[in-house]
Amino acid sequence: MNSIAIDLPHHRYEVLVESGGLNQLGSLVQQVAPHTRAALLIDQGLPDQHIVSAQSSLQKSGYDLVIEPMPVGENHKNLDTVCATYERLLSGQLERHSPVIAMGGGIVGDTAGFIAATYLRGVPFIQCPTTLLAMVDASVGGKVGVNLPQGKNLVGSFYQPSLVIIDTDTLSTLPDRQMRCGLAECIKHGIIRDAELFTWTENHVDKILSRDRDILIELILRNVQIKASVVTADEKELGQRAHLNFGHTFAHAIEAAEKFDSPSSCHHGEAVALGMVAATRLSVVIGRCDPNILPRLTSLLARAGLPIQSPHLPPTKQLLELMRVDKKVAGGQLRLVLPTNLGQVDLVDAVDEQHIVDAWDGLRP
Ligand SMILES: NC(=O)c1ccc[n+]([C@@H]2O[C@H](COP(=O)([O-])OP(=O)(O)OC[C@H]3O[C@@H](n4cnc5c(N)ncnc54)[C@H](O)[C@@H]3O)[C@@H](O)[C@H]2O)c1
Ligand SMILES: [Zn+2]
Repeated sequence: MNSIAIDLPHHRYEVLVESGGLNQLGSLVQQVAPHTRAALLIDQGLPDQHIVSAQSSLQKSGYDLVIEPMPVGENHKNLDTVCATYERLLSGQLERHSPVIAMGGGIVGDTAGFIAATYLRGVPFIQCPTTLLAMVDASVGGKVGVNLPQGKNLVGSFYQPSLVIIDTDTLSTLPDRQMRCGLAECIKHGIIRDAELFTWTENHVDKILSRDRDILIELILRNVQIKASVVTADEKELGQRAHLNFGHTFAHAIEAAEKFDSPSSCHHGEAVALGMVAATRLSVVIGRCDPNILPRLTSLLARAGLPIQSPHLPPTKQLLELMRVDKKVAGGQLRLVLPTNLGQVDLVDAVDEQHIVDAWDGLRP
């Protein structure tokens, strides 16, 4: 199997990437968390065909399973879902060494990870991400948690999995819009760390969207590698992990202006696409960035079916206020991640507010 080792000071685990990988789930989990019982927490939106392979593989390897469907949607990523799941684990007699296996998108991964981190003070955790975003981003790095009514991801922990198994075949059923959103984070990785990956993505975007099997494996391996190298260098987000927030300060303001899951709201990857355009344009305007990058970025995002401008943005005044709130929650100054060249970004404090206003206005058609 293709594998990437994540080497942290106190923990080492593998991310396995394979077409059909779920057929080997049981034996792989037995290697890292041998036991007779396991919990399989499943994204309710996941088609049965993927669940059947995982379930039968785990049962063949001797696991007595507690299977719990997890509700879909950001408004269910909360402590009510966590408490209901604790009760199922208790009644299913899950013990200290029984693994919790998460199968689904980032919402299920983050929620199940928080449950695994806290149930009986922590049980082995296995991630089987099934969206592109969860594969290249959410499942690597150990951030787990849930939302509070006051905001996203306000309760959580750093809790590393024992194993991540990425079966690229699960992407065959992922809706196109979700596929594009995951691709936004891959494009982000190219800009912040890897010019060659950015160029490769430009050359393969059509094959990615048509789910070419070999191209998907290469895309995921290269992107997991980048996320892994950033998080292993900075596990607790004290320094360079902030580079992963490229485009996100703008994106979070857009998302905060919209209610969770309202039908007209943009998905996270779409907000990130707009945020990357705003940050790159700002960086060019203040003379920090090679101007050739902006047209390459907008052209790639457009080919990926992601927005590069939006007629539905809330008023700039409201967006600026939301950026300030986000900054306060993060406990610091407004600090933007701005590209300087393909594959390179800087953290920049004290950007003149008028430049931020102009960056927002540049997103309006
Ligand atoms: N922990 C981290 O470091 C980290 C990083 C980035 C994002 N996140 C979190 O991830 C969440 C977003 O994750 P997401 O984008 O995966 O969204 P999601 O979990 O909502 O999944 C998107 C949709 O796809 C469906 N789905 C999942 N796999 C499928 C498949 N193979 N076929 C068909 N449908 C499928 C789901 O049911 C859901 O409706 C957010 O809550 C975000 O905060 C966490
Ligand atoms: Zn993101």
